[in-house]
Amino acid sequence: MAILCTKTKAVIPPLAGAMGGEVSHVDDLVEAERLLASDPLETLVVIGSDVDLTEALDFTSTQRLVRPALGVVLLREQLEVTVLALAIRAGVREVVPESDLDVLAESCLRSRDLSRFTPASVTIPAQQSIEGKVAVVFATKGGCGKTTTATNLAVCLHAGGANRVCLVDLDLAFGDVAISLQLTPVRTLVDAMAMDGQLDETGMSGLLTRYRQGLDCVLAPVEPGDSEQIPASLITNVLRVLRRMFDYVVIDTPPQFNEHVLAVLDEADHHILLTTPDVPTLKNLRLTIDMLDMLSYARDRRTIVLNREDPRVGLTAADVESVVKTNVAVRVPASLAVPASINRGVPITIEKADHPVSMAFREMAARILAGARHEPPATRRGLFGLRKWSG
Ligand SMILES: Nc1ncnc2c1ncn2[C@@H]1O[C@H](COP(=O)(O)OP(=O)(O)OP(=O)(O)O)[C@@H](O)[C@H]1O
Ligand SMILES: [Mg+2]
Repeated sequence: MAILCTKTKAVIPPLAGAMGGEVSHVDDLVEAERLLASDPLETLVVIGSDVDLTEALDFTSTQRLVRPALGVVLLREQLEVTVLALAIRAGVREVVPESDLDVLAESCLRSRDLSRFTPASVTIPAQQSIEGKVAVVFATKGGCGKTTTATNLAVCLHAGGANRVCLVDLDLAFGDVAISLQLTPVRTLVDAMAMDGQLDETGMSGLLTRYRQGLDCVLAPVEPGDSEQIPASLITNVLRVLRRMFDYVVIDTPPQFNEHVLAVLDEADHHILLTTPDVPTLKNLRLTIDMLDMLSYARDRRTIVLNREDPRVGLTAADVESVVKTNVAVRVPASLAVPASINRGVPITIEKADHPVSMAFREMAARILAGARHEPPATRRGLFGLRKWSG
């Protein structure tokens, strides 16, 4: 069934009529993606003139890669040369004035014909073979920059759409990802509970909240009490499904070890451990590292990050290194631009890409992009391995 994406109710009947055959209507492109995921043979999406152009083009360029047989016909109120050029570059099949129903009908026919020449096998999404990497951002001290780091790291790994990234808010009781990115939590991790045991990519895509095309979030429950109902095994299942859907999964955490965090540490390829240049936080990092050593997590999975570095406060990266006996891999300077960007709800790496803080987050992302591939869970030794071993 062809898909028509528009929020303008009045135009649905005439547009659907011109498209021909059965038509499913969706309000936005996230919903369109969900429908497409459930029907790998669908070949036509018509995007209404009320849909934001950037979103429409992002959607099209992603679909062109993962589902080349899908034809996108873009409706605009007026045809402009610049829009046409951008649309062609993104892979839109035709741009049609919304008022011209005859032209729309012809475009839909042409697009369907073209899709017929594409072998059915290539319509199956390429994501099925993905084995994404998981990076968890952790510190046992509150307020040292975990959410700031996780959100900006996700943005840097996304690299303007080059990689598919999912940011998971595992601070289940007091998650800040939604507010940091100005997202409204409609579905959250709590909703995964109903699917536990049968969670798959289709179910998971219904729990995602889109930030940008190719950058989605799994948000924390809205009610703090809900977090207690979520079993750690569900978190593991969620991550295993997300790995198959995304190139990178970034996890924000609460400031304490709990069974959810341990499940994530077990599953993750990268442990990004934060400290700030103050003695109590540094002491906590030392204890965290001892704990991770005790649990036999591989040291080469670790990246130590000194956040809010400030020459005026006395503790330097060298001091940190001498206490934790590990190199500080990334140093993020202290800057008032960070809280200012959070208050505006736009990550600093988007708002001020050339800022030294943004450069540090990009350096962190580069380490992950250059990192080793994910090894199968069976070969890893984490908390649960240790429990078994110690009886
Ligand atoms: N490099 C930085 N320079 C200046 N301020 C920073 C920096 N990094 C984080 N902050 C500020 O520190 C505060 C706490 O940051 P954030 O919420 O990311 O920490 P957190 O570890 O997630 O906290 P919590 O444990 O409460 O979840 C925020 O006000 C943020 O703006
Ligand atoms: Mg936080």
